[in-house]
Amino acid sequence: MSDTLEQSIIINEGYYTLLQVEQLAWKKLVNGSVKKKNGFRTMCVGTIGEDGSTSQRIVVNRKVDEENKTIFFHTDNRSRKMDDLQKDNRISLLFYDARQRIQIVVKARAILHTDDGLARDRWKSTSPQARLGYMTIEAPNTKSTMPTLGYDKKFSEIKPTDDESNAFQKNFTVIACNVYELEFLYLDYSGNRKANFYYKDNVLTDCFWAVP
Ligand SMILES: Cc1cc2nc3c(=O)[nH]c(=O)nc-3n(C[C@H](O)[C@H](O)[C@H](O)COP(=O)(O)O)c2cc1C
Repeated sequence: MSDTLEQSIIINEGYYTLLQVEQLAWKKLVNGSVKKKNGFRTMCVGTIGEDGSTSQRIVVNRKVDEENKTIFFHTDNRSRKMDDLQKDNRISLLFYDARQRIQIVVKARAILHTDDGLARDRWKSTSPQARLGYMTIEAPNTKSTMPTLGYDKKFSEIKPTDDESNAFQKNFTVIACNVYELEFLYLDYSGNRKANFYYKDNVLTDCFWAVP
């Protein structure tokens, strides 16, 4: 690692060594989790199905624990991604902020939190509107003979009360993604830049610049 530490790249007029790029990447991810309009607010989640097929979908970046190299999102535990993750907990998360021209791709292991302290805590902090996503009568993606909201029609006019939404808390899961690989790519007209980082037990074990 020591040779590469001497070198740095310029991003928005700031100089970054390899290790500073790693810190910057995590800072961007943290910002995405706390700022609604940030480009890293959403991410594309890739999972592997039982038959080896791959699936992707967008979710909201809910929280980033930089120290424990963990990225959190929320989902309905009746969804297909949950089936995938229960059988194979390998997960990839893809972020791209077009304004900052930064792509971050991570590989992680998913830990599923259903009906535990973390899930209960996060449920309490969700809005009535967000809870509607977990209040569908049938599982997400169930076939319907007509266009459907999935939940009781009255909730399209009146927000559910705490009691009404709490009945669906059992469908709510927090997914904690413990990162073991992170790839950082910066697009710049003077030349693109790439750096790769590897973790074991939340500790950076290897990193290098790479051909973009
Ligand atoms: C902007 C955006 C944000 C989304 N956020 C979430 C989310 O935080 N959690 C989630 O489970 N689904 C979210 N979705 C819906 C998913 O993309 C997906 O359709 C759903 O989770 C079902 O995926 P699955 O059947 O592959 O499990 C979001 C979709 C969009 C377009």
